[in-house]
Amino acid sequence: MQVKNICCIGAGYVGGPTMAVIANKCPHIEVNVVDVNRERIEKWNSDNLNELPVFEPGLSNLVKKCRGVNLNFSYSVGEKISNADMIFISVNTPTKKKGIGAGKASDLKWVEACAREVATYSKGHTIVVEKSTLPVRTAEVIKSILSEATISDLKNNATKTFDVLSNPEFLAEGTAINDLINPDRVLIGGDNGIAIDSLSEIYKNWVPNHKIITTNLWSSELAKLTANAFLAQRISSINSVSAICEATGADIREVSKAIGLDSRIGPKFLNAGPGFGGSCFKKDILNLVYLSDFFGLKEVSSFWESVVSLNNWQQHRISKLIVKKLFGTLTNKKIVVLGFAFKANTNDTRESPAINICKELLEEGAFLVIHDPKVSIKQINIDLNLKPLEISNRLESNTQTLEGKWSKAFDLEKSFIDADAVLILTEWDNYKHLDWKKISKLMRKPSWLFDTRSMIDPEEFSNTKINFWRVGDGT
Ligand code: NAD
Ligand code: UGA
Repeated sequence: MQVKNICCIGAGYVGGPTMAVIANKCPHIEVNVVDVNRERIEKWNSDNLNELPVFEPGLSNLVKKCRGVNLNFSYSVGEKISNADMIFISVNTPTKKKGIGAGKASDLKWVEACAREVATYSKGHTIVVEKSTLPVRTAEVIKSILSEATISDLKNNATKTFDVLSNPEFLAEGTAINDLINPDRVLIGGDNGIAIDSLSEIYKNWVPNHKIITTNLWSSELAKLTANAFLAQRISSINSVSAICEATGADIREVSKAIGLDSRIGPKFLNAGPGFGGSCFKKDILNLVYLSDFFGLKEVSSFWESVVSLNNWQQHRISKLIVKKLFGTLTNKKIVVLGFAFKANTNDTRESPAINICKELLEEGAFLVIHDPKVSIKQINIDLNLKPLEISNRLESNTQTLEGKWSKAFDLEKSFIDADAVLILTEWDNYKHLDWKKISKLMRKPSWLFDTRSMIDPEEFSNTKINFWRVGDGT
C-alpha cells in the first residue's frame, strides 16, 4: 500500500519536527499535522517563523519550505483523519496525577481519545502508528477500540479496517532535525508485513535500509522505554560519581574521559550536570517502575526507581551547596541564573533541573535574575509559580525587599552588577565566552560562580576575584 496522505495527531515537540522532515523528504505525500490546541496551531501557521511553538535548529527552514505545499497545520482533526491512509499518534503521555498508578503509570487518556477519533472519522483501510512513547501492550488497547469500529462499520456494509504499528521516536530536543534526518535506527514494531512495508517505504526515502529494523509490537514499545532508561541511568551513574570526585579530590571530567575510552562504555552521555531534565526520562523510567511492580518484579522496580531518586538528590545537593558556600543564608542575596531550559538549543523547560533548583534558592530567600536565550518570562512564571519583578538590579530596588523574588535578565551585562553569585544551569553557547574579568569587577565580594555544566575553563578564572565551583571537581 503506497501512502499518499498522512495525518499526525499532536503538533508538539515530536509531531511538528517529525512531520516537517517527512514532508521535506517525501514531496509526493501530503502531510497534515492536527492538534486540539488552537493557539499552538496558530503559532505553527504564523508568518513570523520566530513564533513557531517549538524552537529547534533547522526547523524553521523546513517549515518555510514545506508549509502550504505538502505540510499543513490544522485543528480540523476529524476532516484530516478521514482523508488519511496513515495516522501517527504523537500526543503527550505524561505520568498520571491521580487514581491507580498515580505518580508512576502513564496517563493514556489522550492516546485513547485519539483512537476513538480515528475510529469515528477514518475511512477505508488506515494504518495507525504509535509515535508517542507508550507502556508495553498499549497497541492492544488501540486495536480493541478500532476493532469495535470495524465491526459496527461492517453492519453498514462499509469497509473500515485498521493496522496498528509501533514506531517510537528517538530524537533528542536541540538536535531533533539532525536526529530525524540521520537516525541511528528506525524501529517499526508490528504483526502485519504489508503495513510494516508501507511505513518502511516512507523512511526509505532518506534512511538507509539497514537502519530500518522491525520487531514485534511489544518489543518495539519496550525498546523505547528501555533506551530512555539506559540513557538516564548513565547520567545518574556519572552524577553519583561526581559527588565522589568532590569528596576525594578526583575530577569527573578526567574520570569520564578515562572510562569513555573503553569501547564497551563509549564517550556519550557521561557529562555530569545538575541532573537530567526533559519531559521523558523521568516519566518513562517511572513507567518502567510501574510495569515492573505490576508484574511483581520488586527488585527490578527498585533498581530503576533509584535512577530517579539519584537525579532528585543531585538537584537538591546543588542548591544546598550554594546555600552553604554563601555563608548559610541567601536572604536578599542576588544570584544570576544562566539558563532555564532543560538543555541547550531548546525552549522546552519540562522537568528542567532549573525549576527545582531555583525554587529551593527562592525558598532560602535569594533574589534570582534569570537569563535564557529562548525561554519566555511567561514560561518561567508558570514553572516557578511566581510572578517576576520588573527590575533586575539591586540598586534600583531601595524601596522593596527582594527576598524570594525573581526577575528576567534583559541586559545580561547589567544583571551582574552587585550579584553575589552566578549559577550556570544550561549549556547555551553564549555563556562560553563571557568576560569574567569584567564581570568580577561588577559583582559584590566575595563572589561565586557555580558551574553545573563544566562550561568554564578554570584557567580563565585564575586572574579574577570570583570563587569557582564546578560539578565533580574535587581538585
Ligand atoms: P507535546 O506535549 O509537545 O505535544 C503533544 C500535543 O498533542 C499537544 O500539543 C496536545 O495539545 C496534542 N493533543 C493531545 N491530545 C490530542 C487529541 N486528542 N487530538 C489532537 N491533539 C491532541 O508532547 P511531545 O513532547 O511532542 O511528546 C509526544 C510523545 O512523544 C510523548 O509520548 C513523548 O514521550 C514522546 N517523545 C517525546 C520526545 C521529545 O523530545 N519531546 C522524544 C521522543 C518521544
Ligand atoms: C532524550 C533521548 O536522548 C532521546 O533519544 C529520546 O527520544 C527523548 O529523550 C524522549 O524520549 O523524549 P532529550 O530529553 O530531548 O532526549 O535530551 P537528552 O539529550 O537526552 O538530554 C536529557 C537530559 O539529560 C538533559 O537535561 C541533559 O542536559 C541531560 N544530560 C545529557 C546530562 O546531564 N549529561 C549528559 O551527558 C547528557
